[in-house]
Amino acid sequence: MPGAKVKLGVETPGEVPDLSADHGNLMPLTEREYCLMRDLVYHRFGIHLGEHKRALIAGRLQKVVREQGFDNFSEYHDYLNRDATGEALTTLIDRISTNHTYFYREKDHFEFFFRTVLPELAARERQSGRRTLHLWCPGCSSGEEPYTLAMLILEHFRREMTGWDLGLLATDISSRVLRKAQAGIYPAESVARLPRELARAYFDRAPDGRGRVQDRVRQLVLFRRLNLMRPDYPFRGKFSVIFCRNVMIYFDPPTRQALTDRFHRVLEPEGYLFIGHSETLGRNDSRFRYVRPAVYQRVGS
Ligand SMILES: C[S@@+](CC[C@H](N)C(=O)[O-])C[C@H]1O[C@@H](n2cnc3c(N)ncnc32)[C@H](O)[C@@H]1O
Repeated sequence: MPGAKVKLGVETPGEVPDLSADHGNLMPLTEREYCLMRDLVYHRFGIHLGEHKRALIAGRLQKVVREQGFDNFSEYHDYLNRDATGEALTTLIDRISTNHTYFYREKDHFEFFFRTVLPELAARERQSGRRTLHLWCPGCSSGEEPYTLAMLILEHFRREMTGWDLGLLATDISSRVLRKAQAGIYPAESVARLPRELARAYFDRAPDGRGRVQDRVRQLVLFRRLNLMRPDYPFRGKFSVIFCRNVMIYFDPPTRQALTDRFHRVLEPEGYLFIGHSETLGRNDSRFRYVRPAVYQRVGS
């Protein structure tokens, strides 16, 4: 990312798994095995699976368990705990994470970001002479959200990019979605969700009709694998804005609270935190000021 100061503990994406339907007889997932898998997913990834996710877990993991030659889920669970390479866990999370996203999702946020947040932050940076804007988009899934933010940044700085240190770090736990994000190619129907001016200005049309995000947008975004459950984050600088939407929804209240504490540590004073419209920060959290639905600002220094 040009000029970006963020440094990450980089984990390399693995192979793309075949997510097609599983065939053959279903391997049973006993109550005990489900509890083992559920606890492992919670401890490693913070994702809270309720009882109703049992069938989903059994279905999504059948193929992996069989392909890797295990006779049952208990053996698979032991292997997940033993594997020191981390690859087994990568395959697991690639299978079970929910990555639903689309361009311009919760569009109020993008409009507020463009009309209010960007001009305000840019003015502040100009005044201080620092001219630096670093954004973080954790739980970025297949890239629609960070690319949209990058397009809006380009729109804003159209006439004065020189002299600015602009960059967006986009992270996720799933290597599978990160590879899609890095490819930056989306079906035409998906691109059509964006306002027409953005779709026209920032995509090229691939020979098969799909939209390819232009290089000037891609150059602003750095995709990396990062588990939000890490006790601390490996960043040198702080972010002006964190866009973490529809991620905390999978976490329980203590996990969300711990995550909010870590966000607070890496957000600049008066920096903005965007969360999903169906998510909330604890009402008693005096470190963040409520700005508008699902938008908060870090208080003071
Ligand atoms: C539903 S998607 C949200 C995508 C996008 N932010 C949006 O609002 O459209 C949630 C994303 O969070 C990621 N995620 C879940 N647990 C995570 C963790 N522990 N660390 C990092 N990313 C995680 C998932 O892989 C998934 O891509």
